[in-house]
Amino acid sequence: MSALKVGVVGTGNIFKSAHLPAWLAHPEIELTAFCDINQERATRLAGEHGVPYVYEHYQDLIAREDIDIVDVCSANLYHSEIAVAAMQAGKHVFCEKPDAVNPEEALKMQEAASASGKVLMVMRNNRFRPISRFVKQYMDEGHAGEVYTGRCGWIRRRGIPGKGGWFTTKELSGGGPLIDLGVHYIDLALWFMGNPRPVAVSGATYRKFADNSLSDSIHSSFGEKQEDGTFDVEDLASGYIRFENGATLQIEFSWASNIEAETQFLELRGTKAGLQMINNDVKVFTEIAGALCDIKPNLPKEKTGGHAENIHHFIDVVQQRAEPIFVPSQGVDMIKILTALYQSAKSGKEVRL
Ligand SMILES: NC(=O)c1ccc[n+]([C@@H]2O[C@H](COP(=O)([O-])OP(=O)(O)OC[C@H]3O[C@@H](n4cnc5c(N)ncnc54)[C@H](O)[C@@H]3O)[C@@H](O)[C@H]2O)c1
Repeated sequence: MSALKVGVVGTGNIFKSAHLPAWLAHPEIELTAFCDINQERATRLAGEHGVPYVYEHYQDLIAREDIDIVDVCSANLYHSEIAVAAMQAGKHVFCEKPDAVNPEEALKMQEAASASGKVLMVMRNNRFRPISRFVKQYMDEGHAGEVYTGRCGWIRRRGIPGKGGWFTTKELSGGGPLIDLGVHYIDLALWFMGNPRPVAVSGATYRKFADNSLSDSIHSSFGEKQEDGTFDVEDLASGYIRFENGATLQIEFSWASNIEAETQFLELRGTKAGLQMINNDVKVFTEIAGALCDIKPNLPKEKTGGHAENIHHFIDVVQQRAEPIFVPSQGVDMIKILTALYQSAKSGKEVRL
């Protein structure tokens, strides 16, 4: 069988640290072309890994007939434009999160996927972590009973990515920690809850650390910093999401806030049991034989954030060996929720979806 040829648009941090090792480890693919507006970066990386073609403009990469897959790792604003153009040219697309910067752009991606019949998968790496797989199976088997509420978040003390650069520029990123981190944990919560239909949201956003340069998080090294650059996004967002089935979800995301330490968390409360994920640990709270019981499952130690597993799953779907764990309509719902939370924060009112 001939190798699937992959072209990459955006050869920055996440590509280098997570996508590149995953592609290199896969026996069925060949890295054929890199594209980056930063030509020096793409050329250096291509040279290090024997990738024959380097482009400055994504249109030139997509125009190559031999490319089967386009991997989109650019700044958020361009995800939809590049993904749509690639699918229209007959390529499968693996795209970094967030899916797009607004619901219209996310819908264009969904429509291009269905019109082209090509696979569109957006990174949902957290679904592939061992603790997430445990929680998903636990929920799907009904052990938690009716899950009626939950809360989730990723809160940092000082962990602003690429301060002054595209991450903190609303036009290029779509927003701050709500779109950057919310897409990870709101997605997990929705997936565990069986993807209920969101009907209303209420949100608040704050920007209090735009002038602060301290960091206690590895995540500050993501994205390119820019001295005296733009910081017109929030650094903390909180909110509330209501679903059609009556369930609700509280959320909180920050890049910077005065807390003890960076924490990722997700709690789901069911009638038979509650689940709590904190960073890499999971616990179940339930009743057994008339006693309150806390259960700590023994799961494989997490070695990665699930990125490689997500990319390898995408190849299984392209090769028609697996059903996709993620479908584009879930991305549209996600971006609708995030955009409505921003609208609610601006208006001070609940937004119906
Ligand atoms: N899944 C995760 O865990 C995770 C983690 C970090 C970042 N991300 C996502 O990955 C994407 C990239 O983030 P990053 O941290 O690698 O940022 P980065 O700034 O390090 O890299 C982005 C690269 O894309 C290039 N680029 C931007 N626009 C381009 C365009 N139109 N055409 C070609 N190249 C372009 C930039 O020059 C840069 O090299 C973002 O969408 C981000 O949200 C995901």
